[in-house]
Amino acid sequence: MMILFVVGVLALLLVACTPSDPTANLPEGDPIRGERLFSQTINTAPACSTCHMIDGDATLGPVLTGYRERAATHGVSVEEYTYISIIRPGSYIVPGYANSMYSQYDIRLSEQQIADLIAYMLQF
Ligand code: HEC
Repeated sequence: MMILFVVGVLALLLVACTPSDPTANLPEGDPIRGERLFSQTINTAPACSTCHMIDGDATLGPVLTGYRERAATHGVSVEEYTYISIIRPGSYIVPGYANSMYSQYDIRLSEQQIADLIAYMLQF
């Protein structure tokens, strides 16, 4: 009897402590709006396109071509990887690049803007 109780409590703890997907509460993103935001200065934050290009080389940040496939290799959902990369750029560092991404998007962008940017990036 006691053992069942212990197992039950452990199961509850496990459910309560499982980290939830940080993107679960984001509004629905719109890739068209995301495309526009990508090349705009937003709330004094630099445009993503300052450092990221769709194609080409010799940019400050990774190019977007093949983005979805690259992002899928990190053991979290592509949405979550993208979200974390935008709000805490130091969390994952892309090999070959410095940790030099602008670091204040979490306070400069609205949740809607972040969702739109994610929707845009996931197209590549
Ligand atoms: C000042 C230059 C700079 C700006 C501006 C910038 N980034 Fe970055 N970004 C980088 C660099 C450098 C990296 C690679 C290092 C790292 O992973 O942090 C990167 C990495 C990323 C990654 C992970 C990329 C991958 O291929 O796995 C994402 C996603 C990303 N940026 C999205 C954005 C978005 C969206 C914006 C605009 C809101 C933005 N970045 C603005 C420089 C920048």
